[in-house]
Amino acid sequence: MKLGVNIDHIAVLREARKIADPNPLDALSIVKRAGGDQITIHLREDRRHIQDIDAINIIKHSPLPVNLECALASEIIDIVCELRPHRVTLVPEKREEVTTEGGLNILGEQSILKATIKRLQEKEIEVSLFIDPTLENVEKSKALSVEWIEFHTGKYANVYAMLFGNLSNTHHTIPELELSRKELAKILEEELTTLRILSSDAMKLKLKVAAGHGLNYQNVEAIAKIETIEELNIGQSIIARSIFSGLEQAILDMKGLFIR
Ligand code: PXP
Repeated sequence: MKLGVNIDHIAVLREARKIADPNPLDALSIVKRAGGDQITIHLREDRRHIQDIDAINIIKHSPLPVNLECALASEIIDIVCELRPHRVTLVPEKREEVTTEGGLNILGEQSILKATIKRLQEKEIEVSLFIDPTLENVEKSKALSVEWIEFHTGKYANVYAMLFGNLSNTHHTIPELELSRKELAKILEEELTTLRILSSDAMKLKLKVAAGHGLNYQNVEAIAKIETIEELNIGQSIIARSIFSGLEQAILDMKGLFIR
């Protein structure tokens, strides 16, 4: 299981003051030293954390492959085609959200997806689609000829937080809030089964499978055990822990939980 460390939140702290520190560039060698496999950044349209200059420097200097998440906005895709990161993960984006709340609407955005994927692949950039875990999304992704899919694990993470406490780790609206522990445990098991089955289906279709969103030191182990998921992209929980333990230790702690 590979770990993509999402370093956006280093830039969140910097942007709180709009000064130079902390610089996400300084994280690159630490992520590598700690055994991280990939640097993940999200160049948002509103530039609330990673700025264009960060993306330029990170892609230029990273000792690890860079996975750049972005929306289907032509202004951003133009930049990304110039920057040519190793991989682009296409995600839905809303200005008012605090983070990516769900997967892409593949059916509704089929034609723009097709054109964008073509542009990126022509630049020899691997493309991944951030999708909610459904069979339809897997099959539609395959039809779009991408190399990767990334399953949104937000529902799993939310249900986990509701079942085992630590509601502060979730920020979504939770329609299941009134459910009993037994019902929540059932939903959690169903989510895991869905992720297990779909990642195996995707692998059979020769898609590479990543997963991410809301994964943390409490909930990651069950996901890390799914052998057909090749990579997890994790940001918030690692950067949060790094404030107290340092980034290297926070990554080592996370990788230590990837036991199959
Ligand atoms: N994967 C994707 C596609 C994301 O958009 C994000 C959030 O930026 C993550 C993974 C990481 O999520 P988290 O910060 O909750 O670990």
